Amino acid sequence: MSIEFKNFSFRYDALVNPTLKGVNLRINKGEKVLIIGPSGSGKSTLGQCINGLIPHAIEGEMSGELLLNGKDSQSLKLIAHTELVGTVLQDTDSQFVGLTVGEDIAFALENQQVPVAKCTQW
Ligand SMILES: Nc1ncnc2c1ncn2[C@@H]1O[C@H](COP(=O)(O)OP(=O)(O)OP(=O)(O)O)[C@@H](O)[C@H]1O
Ligand SMILES: [Mg+2]
Repeated sequence: MSIEFKNFSFRYDALVNPTLKGVNLRINKGEKVLIIGPSGSGKSTLGQCINGLIPHAIEGEMSGELLLNGKDSQSLKLIAHTELVGTVLQDTDSQFVGLTVGEDIAFALENQQVPVAKCTQW
């Protein structure tokens, strides 16, 4: 899948100034990208925009565009968003369901009733 921020800004309702300002970033299918920066610079905020916590669970003001597979993320319902993007937390011992990242990924696919044959193609 592709992820593209176009002149994207986000301000938490609780803050006066935007946390993300004019972000332009394209991540193509298969690319691995490391986002680094000082504490409080907005790395987690950027991740939450990609996984849909922003705006579905965390409120604020957005401008510009975030395209997921070319689709405007703001037009996606939460369920469609979660089907596109998964989150692996840094503390693998505190994963959602399974004991490993692989088990958690399998759990999501089982819930979506994706046939095993299709999973092995990936
Ligand atoms: N839910 C929230 N409501 C209001 N402000 C928030 C919220 N979450 C984060 N912030 C603020 O947004 C800014 C960016 O925080 P964020 O957590 O994205 O930074 P970070 O780069 O991930 O930091 P760290 O390296 O410590 O994880 C900080 O000023 C933080 O206080
Ligand atoms: Mg963080």
